[in-house]
Amino acid sequence: MIDLTHKIKDHSACIGIIGLGYVGLPLSLAFAQKFQVIGYDIDPALISGLLQGHSHISDISDENVRETLGVSFHPTDKVSDLKEADFIIICVPTPLDQEKIPDLTFIKNACIAIASFLRPGTFVILESTTYPGTTLEVVRPILETSGYHTGKDFGLAYSPERIDPGNKSFSVSDIPKVVGGIDTSCSRVAASLYGSIINDIITVSDTTTAESVKMVENIFRNVNIALVNELSLIFEQMGVNIWEIIDAAATKPYGFMPFYPGPGIGGHCIPLDPYYMSYKAKKYGFIPQFIEKSGEINEFMPFHVVNLIERGLRQVHQPIMGSIIAVLGLTYKRDLNDTRETPACEVIDELDRLGAHVRVYDPYIKELQTRHGIYRSGTTLQETLTGADCAVFLVDHEGFCSLDLGSLGKMLKKPVVIDCKNIFSGSIPDMIYLGLGKGETISGLR
Ligand SMILES: NC(=O)c1ccc[n+]([C@@H]2O[C@H](COP(=O)([O-])OP(=O)(O)OC[C@H]3O[C@@H](n4cnc5c(N)ncnc54)[C@H](O)[C@@H]3O)[C@@H](O)[C@H]2O)c1
Repeated sequence: MIDLTHKIKDHSACIGIIGLGYVGLPLSLAFAQKFQVIGYDIDPALISGLLQGHSHISDISDENVRETLGVSFHPTDKVSDLKEADFIIICVPTPLDQEKIPDLTFIKNACIAIASFLRPGTFVILESTTYPGTTLEVVRPILETSGYHTGKDFGLAYSPERIDPGNKSFSVSDIPKVVGGIDTSCSRVAASLYGSIINDIITVSDTTTAESVKMVENIFRNVNIALVNELSLIFEQMGVNIWEIIDAAATKPYGFMPFYPGPGIGGHCIPLDPYYMSYKAKKYGFIPQFIEKSGEINEFMPFHVVNLIERGLRQVHQPIMGSIIAVLGLTYKRDLNDTRETPACEVIDELDRLGAHVRVYDPYIKELQTRHGIYRSGTTLQETLTGADCAVFLVDHEGFCSLDLGSLGKMLKKPVVIDCKNIFSGSIPDMIYLGLGKGETISGLR
């Protein structure tokens, strides 16, 4: 195996990135500060946008792209351009199929493409989130169809991605990176590559351990979100405000970490990754209880939101069927344009199933495709709210947080507001305000 450490040290290594999405684009731009980077994606429209200096990721500005575009960052939709690369990093999606079974088609296709031009001395790294064992059991055999041997002819490692879209406190270089190679030499080379752009590298025993680290991180988050979601349902019934409880509990200087309830979970990680672990656990005859139960609780939350809407409308003697419901915030997270696995889809489809007329608004996206249809965002919040019977806030986008309940109530036909993210505190006269996890605070109703 040719040692690439000298090419890392003198920055002459060429880095190929497969998949230029939420993970691959920021990573490409971070590497492009020091190395030549070829960014390959199968989506020609995405590549054409990047070649014109346009970013499709809300955290990355056009200026960020233009800084290195054509100089050290070279987007392409031709896989053959990756032949030049010394390192190839795979950042493709890892979805679930209809039965919630891991769908590794994207990883497999990327590996088949790499195997077609693999040359001795190349180093392949998988970053996509996946179940423990994927690098050894899926990636390695496909790459070896090239006729070359792992560890001898080409290097192989796994390094999980930890980027948190929308989080402006951490850049790629600030987030400690876990690395595990197929052998110690591969671990050393991968650690050296990432160490050239990231401050803190944690090398673990092997690829399977590195894959497992990512699983544990995301399952930890999924289980804790499910726990606060369950607690929010209990405290809501008791009329006690869980948001206040969590903030007070978080003042404990050790042993407690705040997680917050919401209308359900979304994004490419938390809703999917636990099922990757479940799939693997079942291969070992183990039926995971915690992991699956957490998924069930989190998946129930959109239906709880619809229950809250029904409860609010009942207070004004209005049935949900035929009511105009304004659903505000369609992304899975605040101030982001990402709608993957967003709980808004489930809320909207359930409202539609119950015969409500749904209007939607999100300042970050133009439309949302649900199972039942395409919902186009109103041009303004005011337009969406005017004449609606109920406003439901699913996301705490910055623009929503500056609204006041008084003016909101004036735009609505019926003064019913459902707040799933603790945007508003308290209620005002003549308003029905139901906060998820807060209990009923119906005040001064005429
Ligand atoms: N988004 C996150 O916050 C996040 C965080 C950590 C880890 N991850 C993991 O990283 C991986 C990538 O996630 P993402 O959010 O960047 O996905 P994404 O959907 O934003 O981007 C993936 C890109 O890969 C491209 N692609 C698919 N197959 C390809 C192929 N064969 N060749 C070239 N390009 C191909 C797609 O066109 C797309 O542009 C997933 O496994 C995900 O679980 C995501």
